[in-house]
Amino acid sequence: MAQRAAIVTGASSGIGLAVARMLGEEGYGITMAARRPDKLSAAVEGLRADGIEVEEVAANLGDEEEIKRVVGAHRDRFGRLDVLVNNAGVGMGETVDALSTKKMDLQLNLNLRAIPLFYRECLEMLKLAGAEHRNALVVNTASVAGKQGEAWLSIYSATKFGVVGFTQAMNRELKDSGIKSTALCPAFVDTPMTDFVKESVPAESMIQTGDIAGAVRYLLTLSPGCLVPEMVFTLPGGSFGVSG
Ligand SMILES: NC(=O)c1ccc[n+]([C@@H]2O[C@H](COP(=O)([O-])OP(=O)(O)OC[C@H]3O[C@@H](n4cnc5c(N)ncnc54)[C@H](OP(=O)(O)O)[C@@H]3O)[C@@H](O)[C@H]2O)c1
Repeated sequence: MAQRAAIVTGASSGIGLAVARMLGEEGYGITMAARRPDKLSAAVEGLRADGIEVEEVAANLGDEEEIKRVVGAHRDRFGRLDVLVNNAGVGMGETVDALSTKKMDLQLNLNLRAIPLFYRECLEMLKLAGAEHRNALVVNTASVAGKQGEAWLSIYSATKFGVVGFTQAMNRELKDSGIKSTALCPAFVDTPMTDFVKESVPAESMIQTGDIAGAVRYLLTLSPGCLVPEMVFTLPGGSFGVSG
């Protein structure tokens, strides 16, 4: 049984899968959660084949009850939580005159609302880990769109600004509990999410998922007195990738 444990959401591809693998290599038992069961199972099998201990929960994380189910499954399997990675997210481009309420709600519920719900449901376990080693970690995947409002991706931007703000609030509110939170703010990362733009921005010129996993690995090495509240990843020249 792993000595430390983590939950990673959106773990079936891209950034989440790379971070889950890194945590597994570091010896964490991991609950991997994502939406589509078949895709998640394939990702989980890849990690298990390398000897990583994984609990697999397919769930729609825009739904509060599903979030409770993920956290419950993790608690039953591992009984502790040292690292929570709130990474699941979707981006839906629309101009403001044509916003669809359905797409707005999907992004708000998954990208933003799910994060405070995960904190609430996980807090007891995170506090126990924080009391034990003063280095419980929550990583929230925001975006450079959470640092600069993006045309056409206005709702996505608004959710990611919300993630950055909520992360700041958690660092103040939980400062005495040994729980540190970091918002990740990347520009284009080579994942399925950026397939739509790869004809004009080649995949190999984007940030790689290993860059993000490596940054999270670094966060794990910090001493209890050192907090990195935010990490911004741009393309060379400082480009945010979307609107430059
Ligand atoms: N790629 C970029 O350029 C970039 C830049 C900045 C920030 N980000 C952020 O990085 C995070 C990860 O994205 P990615 O680039 O790695 O894309 P990705 O490969 O498409 O991964 C998205 C993950 O979220 C899961 N997911 C989507 N909807 C879900 C739902 N309703 N419930 C549960 N899980 C759901 C997906 O599962 P399914 O495939 O089954 O839906 C998948 O595992 C997102 O928060 C995204 O906003 C990405």
